[in-house]
Amino acid sequence: MTLLLQHISYGHLLPAAHGLIESHTDQTKAHLIATGAAMEALAKKFGGDAQTWKVAGMLHDLDWDKLDKDYEAHCGDTLDHLLQTIKAPQELLGDIRAHYQSKYGAEYPLDTMLRKCLYCVDELTGFIIAVTYVRPSKKIADVEVKSVTKKLKDKAFAAQVDREQIRQCEALLGISLDEFVGITLEAMKGVAAEMKL
Ligand SMILES: [Fe+2]
Repeated sequence: MTLLLQHISYGHLLPAAHGLIESHTDQTKAHLIATGAAMEALAKKFGGDAQTWKVAGMLHDLDWDKLDKDYEAHCGDTLDHLLQTIKAPQELLGDIRAHYQSKYGAEYPLDTMLRKCLYCVDELTGFIIAVTYVRPSKKIADVEVKSVTKKLKDKAFAAQVDREQIRQCEALLGISLDEFVGITLEAMKGVAAEMKL
């Protein structure tokens, strides 16, 4: 398959991304740290710019805690305003909006590997956190690939997670579900302390 890579890098925003997460997120923080780490690992797998991919992962739900249940507003003006405070390029806003395909898909298609990875991994990092919470130890160190894939088949578990979006790793990224879960899980274990998991 053709690997579509990013032309514009914004990896220099990594320190600013950490600052934004600290200042503007609470409940979503662990998910953003997880997704940042996963995106960094996926960049290494697919030959992308690791810091740029990490920034996209870290900031993709930056506005989530501010939405006050108005999820239609996700990735809208609030996010745009927050990104402007760190002088982020339009490319970052577009990469983030692309993960909300049902709203922004026509304007921001999944036309790069970064966007494809972010779209698929977003649901997976949240799911792995949910799997961690039901381990007796509640530690991600004790989660294995097979515990994640087994729970994915259990439709009643974390029912809000879109399994199909995760399984699109095969069609969009060209890797098996086991490999995708493995890469993501290992990356998340590397930031366990930061996630407090
Ligand atoms: Fe997310």
